[in-house]
Amino acid sequence: MQFIDLAAQYQHLKTKIDTRIQAVLDHGHYIMGPEVQELEDKLADYVGVKHAITCANGTDALTLVMMVLNIQPGDAVFCPTFTFFATAEVVAFEGATPVFVDSDENTFNICPVDLETQIQKVIAEGKLTPKAIIAVDLFGLPANYPELQKIADKYNLKLVEDAAQGFGGEINGKRAGSFGDIATTSFFPAKPLGCYGDGGAIFTNNDEYAALLKSLRVHGKGKDKYDNIRIGMNSRLDTIQAAVLIEKLAEFPTEMVSRNVAAEKYQAELQGTYKTPVVPEGYVSSWAQYTLQCDDRDAAMARYKAQGIPTMIYYGTCMHEQTAFKDLGYQLGDFPVAERLARSVFSLPMHGYLPK
Ligand SMILES: Cc1ncc(COP(=O)(O)O)c(C=O)c1O
Repeated sequence: MQFIDLAAQYQHLKTKIDTRIQAVLDHGHYIMGPEVQELEDKLADYVGVKHAITCANGTDALTLVMMVLNIQPGDAVFCPTFTFFATAEVVAFEGATPVFVDSDENTFNICPVDLETQIQKVIAEGKLTPKAIIAVDLFGLPANYPELQKIADKYNLKLVEDAAQGFGGEINGKRAGSFGDIATTSFFPAKPLGCYGDGGAIFTNNDEYAALLKSLRVHGKGKDKYDNIRIGMNSRLDTIQAAVLIEKLAEFPTEMVSRNVAAEKYQAELQGTYKTPVVPEGYVSSWAQYTLQCDDRDAAMARYKAQGIPTMIYYGTCMHEQTAFKDLGYQLGDFPVAERLARSVFSLPMHGYLPK
């Protein structure tokens, strides 16, 4: 059994994907070919936003957002400590300071109560300027955006949705990628919607942000790429990856149904043995991971291994425990819920082609 069976998905979509890739090979517009715009239109439609702007990967998507929001040294950006490194890395990359926040033990997502505590702490200390919140849709479940938006409004902070894992999730029918001021996703192959290499996208309803992003992703271009009106980066989605994603996006709603059927099956079998993931009323998860909690996870993982079932740990180290962030001065015990999660979580195979 595979943890994520990309080969089964490819076999299912082979003719369509091969045809799409061949079309790119035939027209030869490998950079910003017509498939890129076609995909962006379809992504915006699916997510329910005005603009989808693709780029080279999910980390660049977040970096481009930091640039659009003008995040600078001296700024504080609040993000969960229990996440993938990129969420916090992009903040530090701009010279700003990631300020970590504890997690909700049921949803794995940023805890709104601790978020407000951390914001007030930064204000009281008076050293950093609070600028933005990056919330993460961890393991596919959208963060608590109704509460987070209230906090963002109260403290005049920008709200960014890191939907790298959340693409396909929903809150009361509103799709992941449409929350906050601006959102990002990743098309890394293992993500709910993945391509055959690196890829990413940014979603927003803000026309000004969209125009700026289209310039920033091509060396700060003005009227063309040899007219450079600002410092940007080279972060475009390859046309071949866009072609693959067009076909995978068409199949995505069906895969979302299969992923949710698989999650329900896990839930029925495993509740009582492990702490199973909680999906609050009105929420839909895209199940980027199906993640259990167990005090003796080594033994649990060994039992699965003996049955030929692969398991993974996402994530065994919180951001405040990472060597790269040691200068921020955090200590063990600062975020008790996230630390407990990092010691007890493990994930089971999850994809749209699991045996029924
Ligand atoms: C929460 C989160 N943010 C950002 C990223 C970065 O995406 P990428 O690997 O495409 O750069 C990932 C991907 O692993 C992620 O899981």
